[in-house]
Amino acid sequence: MRPTAFTGRLGVQHPLVLAPMAGGPSTPALCAAVSEAGGLGSHGGAYLPPAKLRDDIRAIRAATSRPFAINLFADDGAAGDERTLRAAQEAVAGYRAQLGLPPPSPPAPLVTLREAFPVILEERVPVFSFTFGIPPQEMLDACRKAGIATMGTATTVAEARALEQSGVDFVCAQGAEAGGHRGTFDRDAEPPLIGTLALVPQVVDAVRLPVIAAGGIMDGRGFAAALALGASAVSLGTAFLLCPEAGTSAPYRAALRQARDDATVITRAFSGRAARGLSNRFTREMSDAPIAPYPIQNALTREIRAAAAKLGDPGFLSLWAGQAAALAHEIPARELVAQIVHEAEAVISGLRAEP
Ligand SMILES: Cc1cc2nc3c(=O)[nH]c(=O)nc-3n(C[C@H](O)[C@H](O)[C@H](O)COP(=O)(O)O)c2cc1C
Repeated sequence: MRPTAFTGRLGVQHPLVLAPMAGGPSTPALCAAVSEAGGLGSHGGAYLPPAKLRDDIRAIRAATSRPFAINLFADDGAAGDERTLRAAQEAVAGYRAQLGLPPPSPPAPLVTLREAFPVILEERVPVFSFTFGIPPQEMLDACRKAGIATMGTATTVAEARALEQSGVDFVCAQGAEAGGHRGTFDRDAEPPLIGTLALVPQVVDAVRLPVIAAGGIMDGRGFAAALALGASAVSLGTAFLLCPEAGTSAPYRAALRQARDDATVITRAFSGRAARGLSNRFTREMSDAPIAPYPIQNALTREIRAAAAKLGDPGFLSLWAGQAAALAHEIPARELVAQIVHEAEAVISGLRAEP
């Protein structure tokens, strides 16, 4: 495959990124396997206490000397008012009782960007990627000084332009098909659900930065299509969820194996922020329930998710997945990267051969 602005700038072989997948699926082993295979591995560092984040970065470095990315959330969220919080607590109380959990104590806050960012800097990770907005300018300036490349997520052209203005090195255009949280900056807004096929060329036309396409890309066909749209690389999350190196839990894997094209929904029920995952009992029953803002809702459902995971019950798990989850393969990450690259090359040469 021809070099792109992405491969040239980062010195990686293939214009393929393993998307960060915080909250379980991301592991140092998965990240290192993709980097070793010639792509850019990413590790979802959000939610990790700084000491664990540092250990994970060192574990990645012990397994590969190639570039990788560490991803954090640029938005620490909001506290929410008393009334909303109480209503949201009541909405999940029945589930807690069913799972044998005590009534919720005041939710513990998540690790903030300010707490986690020093680890990025001190460990001088090759790439710092982020979602949910733009980190403070001094953090981006510090990355530039330290030689750390930066990559922000955009779900609209306006967000991509704002990222370019802030001086980041790469923009990841996240289409509506994508699994996991929408990267949309405004946490309260209805997320604009612009599909990958529509978003990528508009972002490519709007910014001068290399654009990475994300959302619904599972194989060489999607890879070739994204390059045709002007992307410099692709970012795949759901495609890697069934790899043995991923931290995807057993009930989550079982649900993914049955996923169909119409299996996903956008929900705020788990975290307070809009995210795409497989529809299950919790997303269905909570669709009209009062929800606390991110990250309070995340804290309110944390023990429910943990208890369900222990019971092997997918009904209360956040089963983040993209719209093309049915195309996921259960093979080692290294083989998956080689297969996708090979397929993309075949697709591209097949298109050239057409009269
Ligand atoms: C399980 C899961 C967790 C995710 N966690 C993160 C995350 O921590 N940070 C982030 O920037 N994006 C996260 N995403 C979104 C991905 O970066 C990416 O946009 C998405 O996976 C691309 O769509 P696809 O899943 O169809 O490949 C997550 C996606 C999934 C499936």
